[in-house]
Amino acid sequence: MGTLDAFLRESGIRVLRDAPLGLRTTFRIGGPARALAMPATVDELGALWRACRETETPVRILGSGANLLVRDRGFDGVVIHLGRLSAVSIRGEQVDAEAGASFPKLVISTVQAGLEGLDGLAGIPASVGGAIFMNAGGRHGEIFDVVESVRTLDPGGKVVEQGRTEIPYGYRRSGLEGHVVLGGRFRLRPADPRVVRERFEAVVRSKRASQPMRERSAGCIFKNPPAMSAGRAIDESGFKGARVGDAVVSSKHANFIVNAGRASSEDVLALIERVRDGVRARLSIDLSMEVLVW
Ligand code: EPU
Repeated sequence: MGTLDAFLRESGIRVLRDAPLGLRTTFRIGGPARALAMPATVDELGALWRACRETETPVRILGSGANLLVRDRGFDGVVIHLGRLSAVSIRGEQVDAEAGASFPKLVISTVQAGLEGLDGLAGIPASVGGAIFMNAGGRHGEIFDVVESVRTLDPGGKVVEQGRTEIPYGYRRSGLEGHVVLGGRFRLRPADPRVVRERFEAVVRSKRASQPMRERSAGCIFKNPPAMSAGRAIDESGFKGARVGDAVVSSKHANFIVNAGRASSEDVLALIERVRDGVRARLSIDLSMEVLVW
């Protein structure tokens, strides 16, 4: 990181050294990033992105840390946090949001504005960039249902805008790997504000009833296999309450692993392997990870 350090010193970009990442994840697990950079403008971000590439420095983009397991040794590279790029605007049915904006706050703002389309994504902890990057969703739809276009930095550091049909998104993926999501434009529909609010509240209630929302977790660990709930498969395989160290399979929803104290990433990864092996042995189902591991 020698030459990158020189760039960081001269650029004026806000940087924290040896920044603990666990505190910035919903799991509360993981070691430090060598450098945590918080660019204030797209120009700063672009310069940093290109400098990382030119110096072959490993780089990751951190959103709300909600779908992420950071290893105990941390990340030996640059983690870019876009919290300072968080503008949101709602003009009629058109909503624009920058990557660093809070996704749950965006959802609430659209509900308050009497717009439908994001209300079914209530209770998903994410940044707007993370929600787009992972095509966040659930039983009531996914974010790409209402995405009109996405602005990114391409792998070379150029700003590009792609319409939804140009983006190869799929289940819990956007196909934007290698890009940095800068923000999205959403096209929503005006609706009876009372009806939208009631639907939003019903989704929150059903999540509270079926998911351990108050505990430290990274949401669902595995993707759902075709036409099946991974949670049900794990539950039927008898893993609710299974434990390695302080990592525990939730007894409320078996696709959640919760950090019941001071779980390490090693605990979580060992429990993931145990669950995966057990589900394969009992049900012949191969589960694949939804949570990203750094
Ligand atoms: N089920 C069980 N045992 C369990 C968990 C679930 O029997 O421990 C059963 C439920 O009773 C239900 C069925 O499995 O009949 C489906 O469960 P649920 O409605 O909870 O949905 P899911 O398919 O398990 C998906 C998303 C969630 C999202 C919910 C609700 C994935 C991997 N999971 O879960 O997303 O919140 O729908 O919309 O796509 C996430 O991605 O992090 C996440 C939490």
